[in-house]
Amino acid sequence: MTVPAILVFDSGLGGLTVHAEIVRLRPGARYVYLADDAVFPYGAIPAADLTDRVCGLLGDWIGRAQPDVVVIACNTASTLVLPRLRATHPGLPFVGTVPAVKPAAAQSHSGLISVLATPATVARDYTHDLIRQHAAHCEVELVGSARLATLAEAAMKGEAVPDSAIAAEIAPCFVERDGRRTDHVVLACTHYPLLLDRFRRLAKWHVAWVDPAHAIARRVDHVLAERGFPHEPHVEAIDEIRGEAFFTRDVRPGEDLAAALAARGLRWAKA
Ligand code: DGL
Repeated sequence: MTVPAILVFDSGLGGLTVHAEIVRLRPGARYVYLADDAVFPYGAIPAADLTDRVCGLLGDWIGRAQPDVVVIACNTASTLVLPRLRATHPGLPFVGTVPAVKPAAAQSHSGLISVLATPATVARDYTHDLIRQHAAHCEVELVGSARLATLAEAAMKGEAVPDSAIAAEIAPCFVERDGRRTDHVVLACTHYPLLLDRFRRLAKWHVAWVDPAHAIARRVDHVLAERGFPHEPHVEAIDEIRGEAFFTRDVRPGEDLAAALAARGLRWAKA
């Protein structure tokens, strides 16, 4: 039996948070990680332009990588382009990443939840529909951050990112109303779990940070099983190179980024 090929896609490094969880469930798969960093951040790109960009780029890379499943490890893209991608590539499964509003709303005790995402994701109809469907009983604070994804990339590349910059971006997530406090914050941009330790340290009070990466990995595992690729024994530590990472800007990574890629089973390759 051949091993499955998995194409994981994001605007930059955020998709690595999802990729790492998939590798733990599917260590034997062949991976292509594609980052469209030539136009990062996606959160600042108008919807129609972004749809054309992502569909065109992925069309090329699907031809090149011949994946068995494509993971759109980006909320900003998933909340927009999944219908068109599925219509253009019938028969190829796409697994998207959309704000985890449903589990946050189901688990909240205070009824106050926040969704931390790019300005584009918080403005999407898709996000508003999710809230209507799954969080009608909650008060939902939508926090669109224009800077956090860029700060997360800088931190991963080993650049100094001051606590004050991060604290200012997450501060609006913490809402107090009628003696109640926000108790769940949805990490609705795949970049944000890269900063989770800092978020925890800089939080105004304890909250549950909802990262859907593991659930997405389970979905990918399931989709592959349905397509005839048997489940594999899971691994905790990723200690082998499992695939290549391509960046549309095509700049060779520095030492810190190369190490971060290797820790996720990837080596940089020229696009
Ligand atoms: N990682 C992306 C997401 O999940 C967005 C970052 C960007 O603005 O490019 O939304």
